[in-house]
Amino acid sequence: MTELISTEPATGAVLWTGTTGDANQAVADARTAWPGWAAMAVTRRIEAVRRYANRIKSQADTLAKLISRETGKPLWEAHTEVESVIKKIDISVNAYLERTAQRQLKSQPNMRAALRHKPHGVLAVIGPYNFPAHLPNGHIIPALIAGNTVVFKPSEKTPAVGQFLADTFAESGLPTGVVNILQGGPDIGKELTANDGLDGVLFTGSAHTGIALNRQFANRPDKILALEMGGNNPIIGWDTDDIHSAAVMIVQSAFLSSGQRCSAASRLIVKDSLYDRLVSEVKRISNRLIIDEPFSTPAPFMGPVIDNKVADGLTESFLALMSHGGQPIKHMARPFGDRPFLTPGIIDVTRMKERPDLELFGPLLQVIRVNDFDEAIAEANNTRYGLSAALIGGNAQQYDQFWSNSRAGIVNWNKLTVGASSEAPFGGIGLSGNHRPSAYYAADYCAYPVVSMEADQAHASIGIGLKDEMADAIEAATAAAAAAAE
Ligand code: NAD
Ligand code: SIN
Repeated sequence: MTELISTEPATGAVLWTGTTGDANQAVADARTAWPGWAAMAVTRRIEAVRRYANRIKSQADTLAKLISRETGKPLWEAHTEVESVIKKIDISVNAYLERTAQRQLKSQPNMRAALRHKPHGVLAVIGPYNFPAHLPNGHIIPALIAGNTVVFKPSEKTPAVGQFLADTFAESGLPTGVVNILQGGPDIGKELTANDGLDGVLFTGSAHTGIALNRQFANRPDKILALEMGGNNPIIGWDTDDIHSAAVMIVQSAFLSSGQRCSAASRLIVKDSLYDRLVSEVKRISNRLIIDEPFSTPAPFMGPVIDNKVADGLTESFLALMSHGGQPIKHMARPFGDRPFLTPGIIDVTRMKERPDLELFGPLLQVIRVNDFDEAIAEANNTRYGLSAALIGGNAQQYDQFWSNSRAGIVNWNKLTVGASSEAPFGGIGLSGNHRPSAYYAADYCAYPVVSMEADQAHASIGIGLKDEMADAIEAATAAAAAAAE
C-alpha cells in the first residue's frame, strides 16, 4: 500500500489522502458477490441503482463542489456532470430493455425460441480524470443493471470523487462486494487487469493506455474489453453569414473544460476566404474568456488543467509546434504562477510539413487553412483518431459530403464537437475506440446474448436418410430362407 494524495489544481490545497488498494482482494470480493447479484431479478437491481441516484440527487451540491475542487472545473460545469450521473439511470434502464431485454423469437410449432442476455461476471471499470463521476458511472450503471459486479478504479488524479461514488453505492444498500473501489494509479490498474478473475475491462482514458490494454488482452478473446479513448478532432469553418456564432461554437468546442474533453476540437480547418474574419473572431472571443478558480465570481468559462505536469506538457507542445513552423495566433500562457491555469493557445499549423497526430489534451487549437471543401474533408480525416467531427457553416450538400466521408463516430453540423447526448451511442473509430461505443450502447457490452430453443417434451423423428426398417426385415428374412434351402 502506498499513500495517495489528491490536491486541488486551482489552489494546490490537499483535498484527500488515502492509500492504494489491493486489486486481488477487490476482484475476490466482486467474485463472491456476483452469483447473488446476477440471480436477483432485474427489477430489484434497477431499484438498487435508483436508490443510488436518489442519494446522488440529495447530495448534488456536495458532489458538484467536490468535482470542482478535484478537477478545477467551474461549479456550473460540475453541476452539469452531476445531472448526467443522475440521468444515466433512466437512460440505462431504457437501453437495457431496448437492446438486451428478453425477447421471443419466431419458432416452429410446439417450440419456443427465446433471446436472453447474461452478465459477463466481474467487470473492471477504469476511469479518467476529466469527468471523474459521469464517465465511470456511465459504465458502472449499465454493468450493474445487467447483473455484473464491478471493481471500480478511479483515476489517481480524482480519487476523492471516486470514493464519493463508491460510498454512495454502499449507502444505497447495494449488497457488499457488488461495487468495490480500488484506489491507485497505473500500477494498480495493471495489477487489476492482470487478475484472471476478471471477465472484462471497461476502460475510458487515453489511446496510449487503451492500446496497452488491447495488447494485453490480445490472446484473451474470452474477456470483454471496451475501450473509450481520445481524439484529435476536426471542426471545419465554412461559408456562413453568422461569423460570431461560428466562432462561439469553435471556442466552446475547443476550450470548454479547458479543452480536456475527448471530443474537444483540436484542429480548426478553415476556408481561405473566411480565414481572416473567422480566426480573428475566434481569437477575440478567446481573449474574453474568464479563466479562474471554480467558485470565483463572475463565474469562469474554464478553470485550470488537471495539474502542473499536464500544463507544462501543453506549453511545451505549443512551443514545439512553433519551432516546427507553426505561426502563433494566440500564445498559450500560464496566468497564475505555478498553478496549472492556461490561457487558450491558438496556432496556425498550415505550413508545418509534418503535423503531429497526437491528442494534445488541453486548450490548444491548431488552425489549418484550405482552399476547397475536398481539401477540408481530407484534412479532417488526416488523423488516426476518429471520435468527433463538426462542420460549421456550409450548405446541405456540403454537409452530406462531409457526413459521407467523415471517419468519426460523431459527425455534427452547426453543432459543437462536444456535448454528446448520453441517450445516443458514444464512441469512435481508429484510435478512439475498439468498436464498442458507450453511453446508450453500453448495454451491449455489459451482457452477452444467449439464444434458446425450448419445448416441454422431447419429440423428434428423422424424415430423410434412414433405411426402411420393413425392407431391411424382408431382406434379412429372404436371405435367411435362401440359406436354409441350400
Ligand atoms: P489515462 O489513460 O492516463 O488514464 C486512464 C485510467 O487508466 C486511469 O485510471 C489510470 O490510472 C489507468 N491506467 C493507466 N495506465 C494503465 C495500465 N497500463 N493498465 C490499467 N490502467 C491504467 O487517461 P487520463 O489522462 O486519465 O484521461 C484523459 C484521457 O481520457 C484523454 O485521452 C481523453 O481523450 C480520454 N477520454 C476518453 C473518453 C471517451 O469516452 N472516449 C472520455 C473521456 C476521456
Ligand atoms: C468527454 O467525455 O470527454 C466529452 C463528452 C462530450 O462533451 O461530448
